[in-house]
Amino acid sequence: MNDRFIDSDLKTEDVFEKNIRPENLEEYVGQEKIKENLRIFIKAAKMRNEPLDHVLLYGPPGLGKTTLAHIIANEMESNIKTATGPSIEKSGDLAAILSTLEAGDVLFIDEIHRIPSFIEEILYSAMEDFTINIVIGTEGKSRSVKIDLPPFTLVGATTRAGDLSSPLRDRFGIVNKLEYYSDIELGNIVKRTSRVLDMNIADDAAVELAKRSRKTPRIANRLFKRVRDFALVEGNGKIDLDITLKALDRLNVDKYGLDNIDIEYLEALINKFNGGPVGVETISTAIGEEITTIEDVVEPFLLQEGFIKRTRSGRVATEKSYEHLGINHNQSLFESGGLF
Ligand SMILES: Nc1ncnc2c1ncn2[C@@H]1O[C@H](COP(=O)(O)OP(=O)(O)OP(=O)(O)O)[C@@H](O)[C@H]1O
Ligand SMILES: [Mg+2]
Repeated sequence: MNDRFIDSDLKTEDVFEKNIRPENLEEYVGQEKIKENLRIFIKAAKMRNEPLDHVLLYGPPGLGKTTLAHIIANEMESNIKTATGPSIEKSGDLAAILSTLEAGDVLFIDEIHRIPSFIEEILYSAMEDFTINIVIGTEGKSRSVKIDLPPFTLVGATTRAGDLSSPLRDRFGIVNKLEYYSDIELGNIVKRTSRVLDMNIADDAAVELAKRSRKTPRIANRLFKRVRDFALVEGNGKIDLDITLKALDRLNVDKYGLDNIDIEYLEALINKFNGGPVGVETISTAIGEEITTIEDVVEPFLLQEGFIKRTRSGRVATEKSYEHLGINHNQSLFESGGLF
């Protein structure tokens, strides 16, 4: 079973993550509506002395789903057990995880969309009635045994809510879509990380980092780490705007926060496919990235920021993309013969 949090062999990256991860709703920046509602649901559950209803968290990577799952457990004053969808391959894997639960525990299943559908069905009754039916014995002599579970809260996280079967989705009483963060919120996250790590960052430098973080806390924290390295080695140890701009430049992060994959995607869309419409499979082949990476990581941000549009016949580059890449729209149409 995958239980990362009792893993004693934490990598440096994990230690960093653990240190800067907010531990309660108060410290969790942004997602105001979600926090407001959760506060009420958590308070009510505690007043009734019941576990919180099952929670589904979905949205693009790095927006704070795992963090929020741990915060929910903390706020409920519950223990958290963790597993990931891909680690649950057999019904026995799920039964083993469920059998470790104690009353009031939070079971966090990350990448829940990757649980095989025949195992999802065991989850249905676990979630609804806190029971599971497992088949024991060998063929011919097998029988089904009903096992009672203590009341618990399932917190599921996924980047692809659309891949969940609807019976599973319907069994979550609380469903939250995490949104991209505003630059102000990201600035606050960077400031918070700098306080936790005891390495001050100038306000204007934090604003710049925030603007270039693809609206994503994980990227903001990662960039902060790299800028900190530059400040230490090539600066005077202080994180000011100068060293921040220099570092961002060296890291190939442009003024919208687009990175190499984003740029490759847009260049392919415009230069190879006349700005679209083109299917995701075709782009995937052209730039050598997995379709899932493109759909889950690259496109949501490009869509949100208006660099591309999704149409029924495929992806289309917008004027903003042409401008950003410095390509004249009409000229590229002529050159490719796209107009005639
Ligand atoms: N609201 C927030 N306030 C402060 N820090 C945050 C917030 N959300 C996320 N972070 C930080 O961003 C990083 C990434 O968050 P997290 O691992 O929870 O993302 P995730 O949504 O689970 O991503 P994935 O889909 O890849 O699993 C963490 O280091 C966390 O500390
Ligand atoms: Mg996560």
